[in-house]
Amino acid sequence: MSTKTDANRVTIFDTTLRDGEQSPGASMNLDEKLKIAELLQELGVDVIEAGFPIASPGDFASVSEVSKLIKDAVVCGLARSSRGDIDRAGEALKPARRARIHTFISTSPLHMKFKLQMSPEEVHQAVVDSVTHARRFTDDVEWSAEDGSRTEHDFLCRCVEAAIKSGARTINIPDTVGYAVPEEYGAVFRMLRERVPNSDKAVFSTHCHNDLGLAVANSLAGVAGGARQIECTINGLGERAGNAALEEVVMALRTRADSMPYTTGINTKMITKASRLVSTVTGFVVQPNKAIVGANAFAHESGIHQDGMLKHAGTYEIMTPESIGLTKSTLVMGKHSGRHAFKVKLKELGYELGDNAVQEAFRRFKVLADKKKDVFDEDIVALVDDEVMRRHDRVKFVSLQIVCGSRGAPTADLELDIDGEVRQTTATGDGPVDATFNAIKALFPHEVKLQLFQVNAVTEGTDAQAEVTVRLEEGGKTVNGQGADTDTLVSAARAYVNALNKLLVKREKTVPKALSA
Ligand code: KIV
Ligand code: ZN
Repeated sequence: MSTKTDANRVTIFDTTLRDGEQSPGASMNLDEKLKIAELLQELGVDVIEAGFPIASPGDFASVSEVSKLIKDAVVCGLARSSRGDIDRAGEALKPARRARIHTFISTSPLHMKFKLQMSPEEVHQAVVDSVTHARRFTDDVEWSAEDGSRTEHDFLCRCVEAAIKSGARTINIPDTVGYAVPEEYGAVFRMLRERVPNSDKAVFSTHCHNDLGLAVANSLAGVAGGARQIECTINGLGERAGNAALEEVVMALRTRADSMPYTTGINTKMITKASRLVSTVTGFVVQPNKAIVGANAFAHESGIHQDGMLKHAGTYEIMTPESIGLTKSTLVMGKHSGRHAFKVKLKELGYELGDNAVQEAFRRFKVLADKKKDVFDEDIVALVDDEVMRRHDRVKFVSLQIVCGSRGAPTADLELDIDGEVRQTTATGDGPVDATFNAIKALFPHEVKLQLFQVNAVTEGTDAQAEVTVRLEEGGKTVNGQGADTDTLVSAARAYVNALNKLLVKREKTVPKALSA
């Protein structure tokens, strides 16, 4: 077994904003992406893949704005092997302090024949041309062999050799379709390091999808085989069954350092916050029994386990909740708590808000404390996230009165502030949620498809705040809106209005200058 040295430091490459965002329905707007990028930086990730600039003006803007914002981590943009893709990535990454272009092409027989309709020789030439061209923009070029785990070894060696010779510093071997098993995936890295000339001039990287539930195991096997970069996402977000979950690979390496002597630069105490933010923004709820960040990951229900825990936490806990930033749900404040205590609490929870935002959050906290006996940290997080999320909204929720039950049609009496003017209407529907959404449509006419309506309790108890996610679709574009309140219907109205605002921004968005030039 090797020892802990710098040679055993594993680079954490986060692709939540690129591969993660490719999950159907997980789209994020620019503000949300910037918020996530900032948190990823605080979390200590080494590389942030911020988007695929050629894919859309939104992706271009994401890479460009993240490049302006992020000072510590490397910012990366994805590009296929064409010059157009690479030029666009280079352009978007211009403001970055440390920029990486990640260029890829498929190398498996199946992909080359059916997807690319290119011969192996043409693909090999494309590797040379793409990496050489990308090096004109930055020294930090990563090359990926898409469907690498299903590529013939001799051809993979030739392509990797060509990529390194052309100037790629990182070589990524994706298990694009989540087909590999750990032993075989680890062996690919051993084979490449042994057979490819100058393999020591590049860092090898894993990129595993979770179709067989093996993404984390495969990533760790890749590291054991010599890879020193893991590509992963928060909560395992990603195409189909997702990517390797950042929190799982990092905590596995940390908790089992005895058998895997590798280190990362991750501040694990930020994991819970990052997981919650990504879940809130995307509306992808974390399953309760999910490793590390699931609501039950540190819950001990059975009598035997509880007894063991009381005697010694190590009996049933292999890592502490504190190590992932999960603080015990503390009773914070009640309706008599003052502004100063509230500000201190916000700081403790990691929020740096301007005076106006603090003022508004404090006002809502007071309203909440009046309605709810116990106010927990989670309540404050939900309330502040809700507030921050709707800062720039054109349409704002003002009030809602619902009459519903088993005797007659549900009625919603709603007030919205639209462009600074408060408007009121009453509408009925097939249920109170339908009546509420009909009232919104009456005040602000629009045609959209409701794709998702999801309710989550923020804490336990019947007085808990309800966090509602609403996903709307218009012309193939989806947006997620969130709302939190002790009244589920008020949360629903807030969430719908929030999503509507995001659609308005999407509609109005013009092509960024760099693309229209
Ligand atoms: O899964 C994959 O192959 C990818 C590449 C673009 C790196 O996401
Ligand atoms: Zn992928």
